[in-house]
Amino acid sequence: MIETVIGFIVNMQHHRSYRDLLVGLIPKEDLSRLPRSFDIIGEVAIIQLPEQLLKVSKYIGEAILKIHKNVKCVYAKVGTIKGKFRLPHLLHIAGEQIELTTHKEYGLSFLVDVKRCYFSPRLANEHRRIALLAKDGEYVIDMFSGVGPFAIHIASVRKALVYAIDINPYAYRCLIKNIRLNKRKLKGAVVPICSDSRVVAEYLRGIANRVIMNFPDDPYSFLEHALLFLNDEGVIHVYSFENEPDPIALSLSKIRSKLTSLGWDIIDVLYSRIVKEVSPKRRYIVLDLYVKRKR
Ligand SMILES: C[S@@+](CC[C@H](N)C(=O)[O-])C[C@H]1O[C@@H](n2cnc3c(N)ncnc32)[C@H](O)[C@@H]1O
Repeated sequence: MIETVIGFIVNMQHHRSYRDLLVGLIPKEDLSRLPRSFDIIGEVAIIQLPEQLLKVSKYIGEAILKIHKNVKCVYAKVGTIKGKFRLPHLLHIAGEQIELTTHKEYGLSFLVDVKRCYFSPRLANEHRRIALLAKDGEYVIDMFSGVGPFAIHIASVRKALVYAIDINPYAYRCLIKNIRLNKRKLKGAVVPICSDSRVVAEYLRGIANRVIMNFPDDPYSFLEHALLFLNDEGVIHVYSFENEPDPIALSLSKIRSKLTSLGWDIIDVLYSRIVKEVSPKRRYIVLDLYVKRKR
């Protein structure tokens, strides 16, 4: 009986959240505004805070450091992710000032410049899912590679050649280091390119079997260039933000009308899913499509 009680207490301590540490420390109305979750990238925690909580952000940061012993630095993310580099606005609220950190995902290492590069640890399963769909011998284009998670996951499980393109020079720098960091784990190869993927499409016409389009703000205006990479047919993975009630149908109809106008057909919808919620009505979705040029 005593052992059971001790076990229960240990368990309770184990599952304590940073929110529990803030009870009695910050006003009650602020407690109810605290986010349930936050991201951890390597040694850095990033928590989205509404403006009203910034006055107590130091307590929030300290509470996170206390609960998560592997976290050494906490940033508050204020407002939404912005601009073509998809960067958050980060305020340092606790711990050391760390900008470069190494994140582990499925045994792979990713150096991330958290202030200057996009990276979401919530996409780990998505990076892996796409990697497992690729086949040995494939030529893959990652049109918006960031620090390289899709490209490096693919090359780690398949003898594929992946062109990883990003317009952000800081992301490109991390990408190069990440290829080196993981080189012993790669079966395939990753070619890093720092450029606008629309420009690269002109040079790599018709070479790819598979194109990854992880630019959810506006994938539709890049479809024309994604098709340039393909040679008459292939698979495209299109990520987008769309609103409820039917975000997948909405995205599919936008893609279909764009493809039709370009002389291509969707032969098969291989897979679709809601990857995550971005706000109460907005969803981050993915569609895997087998597409073919019309005869
Ligand atoms: C949502 S992030 C995706 C990052 C990566 N795929 C991942 O899963 O972590 C979108 C990326 O697209 C890049 N980007 C935006 N416009 C671009 C363009 N025209 N050509 C190439 N990359 C671009 C941004 O710099 C950013 O790194």
